[in-house]
Amino acid sequence: MPPRVTERELPHFRLAGSCAAATLAAVASKLRAGVTTADIDGWVREDTAARGARPSQLGYQGFPAAVCTSRNEVVCHGIPSAAVTLADGDIINVDVTSELGGWHGDTSATFFIGTPSPETRHVVEAARRALEAGISVVRHGAHLGDIGAAIEAVARATGCGVVQEWGGHGIGRRMHLPPHVAHVGRRGTGLKLKQGMAFTIEPMLTLGAPHTRVLEDGWTVVTCDGRWSAQFEHTVVVTSTGCEVLTRLPTP
Ligand code: MF3
Ligand code: CO
Ligand code: CO
Repeated sequence: MPPRVTERELPHFRLAGSCAAATLAAVASKLRAGVTTADIDGWVREDTAARGARPSQLGYQGFPAAVCTSRNEVVCHGIPSAAVTLADGDIINVDVTSELGGWHGDTSATFFIGTPSPETRHVVEAARRALEAGISVVRHGAHLGDIGAAIEAVARATGCGVVQEWGGHGIGRRMHLPPHVAHVGRRGTGLKLKQGMAFTIEPMLTLGAPHTRVLEDGWTVVTCDGRWSAQFEHTVVVTSTGCEVLTRLPTP
């Protein structure tokens, strides 16, 4: 049974979630053509430190950077590099995980650099909708399979693929905890959700086939067919009537 967050712990967990969200927003405001993904890594290190937090991903199972930066056909776990410069028309997923006060918040979004092609816009908006659809079915008493089914329905309606090799995960006092949160599934199946369970939902949608492979660096996940992929991620806690999204910034 995955750990459940208590009422007493929740305020601390909330702070970690807001911290990751704020860092992601700070980075987002600086993205434009000419920026390298190593620049993004530097900004994440500085902003995270300024908030008194630590980048959870740095050194995680040997991961060499503070943030994952996944451009175009990179599905997830892209390693920041001074050799990767963002250009007009690109998309870039920035995945920030921050540890604050012993709690972890994990969130990502895919951003347009300059003007996207219509099909690029399509897959990004589909992935955004897929995450919101997944979040919308979370409540005490629902099943893990409901989340995958909701995401799959968006994929079907938009003609996009859903990556199955990678999924969401429990989160709290560690970045990765059980359960595994699949982005495909059948309603009414899988683990029954209980108030206080915390996990990420992070669907990866593709324009082409959803099959992926890992590059020689042991981290970078790309689509096999080279077509582009988009991802969004939030950290959520199950409540009696729905869920609280810990990594959503209040709209100013
Ligand atoms: N933030 C990523 C996730 O959503 C974690 C990737 S592990 C890393 O699960 F080591 F690549 F950073
Ligand atoms: Co995650
Ligand atoms: Co993440």
